[in-house]
Amino acid sequence: MTTVNLNVNGKDYSVEVDGSTRLLDLLRDSLGLTGTKEGCGEGECGACTVIMDGEIVDSCLVLAFQCEGKEIITIEGVQNGDILHPAQKAFIEKGAVQCGFCIPGMVLATKAIIDKNEEPTDDEIREGLSGNLCRCTGYNKMVEAVHRAVEINKEAK
Ligand code: FES
Ligand code: FES
Repeated sequence: MTTVNLNVNGKDYSVEVDGSTRLLDLLRDSLGLTGTKEGCGEGECGACTVIMDGEIVDSCLVLAFQCEGKEIITIEGVQNGDILHPAQKAFIEKGAVQCGFCIPGMVLATKAIIDKNEEPTDDEIREGLSGNLCRCTGYNKMVEAVHRAVEINKEAK
């Protein structure tokens, strides 16, 4: 066992992990942050998406001990108290809300897109969402939602 020190959603944690513990397990089992889902467990679906030091990662592919000193944001950390994040508002407004399985990853991917790019094109948005699979619906509403999230961000400034 080894201790990993990391910051999740603005809080510092020291957690005992073994060499095979994944970041996904640490979040769900040790910290009780069950908004991060396990789908494929192989880096294909994006259900386990979190933001690590500003980049989206599949937490099923990251070993917990590799997260020493990292800052992680999960779906539980995007909302500001009672105030929804622009990505959450936009998905609701545009009717792009997905199932509980894929929506956390979609919202985090959207946050990562709009944090870095103030004017993402459709192609950039599709690229940014490409790690997050939904086999149920098309992606058009989600692309609209990301554009709307950009607008909400600007309106708030
Ligand atoms: S569970 Fe991690 S990418 Fe599918
Ligand atoms: S996988 Fe969630 S709505 Fe398709």
